[in-house]
Amino acid sequence: MTQKILTGQVLQFVANPFEGPATEAVRVITDGAILIKGGKIETVGTAHEIRAKAPQALVTDYGDHLICAGLVDAHVHYPQTAIIASWGKRLIDWLNSYTFPEEMRFHDAEFARDTADRYLDLTRANGTTTVTSFCTIHPESVDALFEAAEARGQRIIAGKTCMDRNAPDGLRDTVQSAYDDSKMLLEKWHGRGRASYAITPRFSPTSTPDQLSALGALWGEYPEVLMQTHLSEQVDEIAWVQDLFPDSRDYLDTYEAHGLLREGGLFGHAIHLTERERMRLREMDAGLVHCPTSNTFIGSGLFDMAGLVAEGQRVGLATDTGGGSSFSMLRTMAAAYEIGQLRGTPLHPAQMLWLATQGSARALRMEDKIGNIVEGMEADFVVLDLASTPAISQRSMRATDIWEAVFPTLMMGDDRAVQATWINGVCDR
Ligand code: GUN
Ligand code: ZN
Repeated sequence: MTQKILTGQVLQFVANPFEGPATEAVRVITDGAILIKGGKIETVGTAHEIRAKAPQALVTDYGDHLICAGLVDAHVHYPQTAIIASWGKRLIDWLNSYTFPEEMRFHDAEFARDTADRYLDLTRANGTTTVTSFCTIHPESVDALFEAAEARGQRIIAGKTCMDRNAPDGLRDTVQSAYDDSKMLLEKWHGRGRASYAITPRFSPTSTPDQLSALGALWGEYPEVLMQTHLSEQVDEIAWVQDLFPDSRDYLDTYEAHGLLREGGLFGHAIHLTERERMRLREMDAGLVHCPTSNTFIGSGLFDMAGLVAEGQRVGLATDTGGGSSFSMLRTMAAAYEIGQLRGTPLHPAQMLWLATQGSARALRMEDKIGNIVEGMEADFVVLDLASTPAISQRSMRATDIWEAVFPTLMMGDDRAVQATWINGVCDR
């Protein structure tokens, strides 16, 4: 197997930048190199050292571009690719007006394949190497995404979205079919190459208690898989959940009571949480996924990053395409920064990058495989040009340290900043 070397400025996390001085959590090797073989990182060091170690290796020199771990998007809806940027609705109206009619089309395998390919091409162009996606109720939509990811050698987490109420005709399954189809798809895809299955009740309003119980039972049979859903995104939604589940203590309890709260649970949004919910999420060590462009675009609210991280929650970052308004994790980091500012707690650029790589990987319980550039981890990288546009370049030219050089790209960068995306040791862009 050929050895390959990438050279450039290599950024590694040596600690969690939320747990100490942010800058000390990062090591940037200015004249750095990564040696890879197959889909794995063999060594990281200075270009001089690494070239001497593997003189036969194929070298790709990225000059002074920044090489980071590939970006990890911990919550998306690939079927919403074509309805991104749909105007003027809040969550429930937005679902009914734009999302559900589009998701209805995914019974057609050809349509699903076309969207899955387009979605993965768009995310790769933005430096994203791993996504965790909801599909639709249709098994075809799940096969389409896993197949498209497999063809790209890409790590992927996805599941059939289950809904047996409060959705239109043609977009509902049943208690039994949700269980059976999820199990069949899980058996087919989980652990195949780089694929992982996630059991996926959409959210409590679209599942009957019986369906939630059936999916909780399925999770009990396969405790190693992830479970993804939505939690406390909008105030109206929470009131609706209270009406639908009058016996529940709160929104989280609608999952907890049905076997859907423990480690490996991934809760998207998690904005308007009660003290009890925060405590239980922490006790169970579940993952919370911050979706900042979505939270502003749909008008949901301001995620309490600083408070949640300080109390030890496991937090990842996501675009939430297409409630989110961008495919780019750079734009998503910028939105997370802006929300932090609105709450009086700005994120350091090291924290922004950590959330988009290690933070998301930790939420997915894959931090030993993806989200950092260290020996033994998978060879997924994004190469960032820190002067990709005249506006960014004139700002980064004034930088007096690496963080001033990086921050303009995190705030203003887009796919033009993405010089290359490496997936599984292969550069496709
Ligand atoms: N809650 C339930 N379904 C969805 C969805 O598709 N997008 C968002 N943002 N929230 C949801
Ligand atoms: Zn979502």
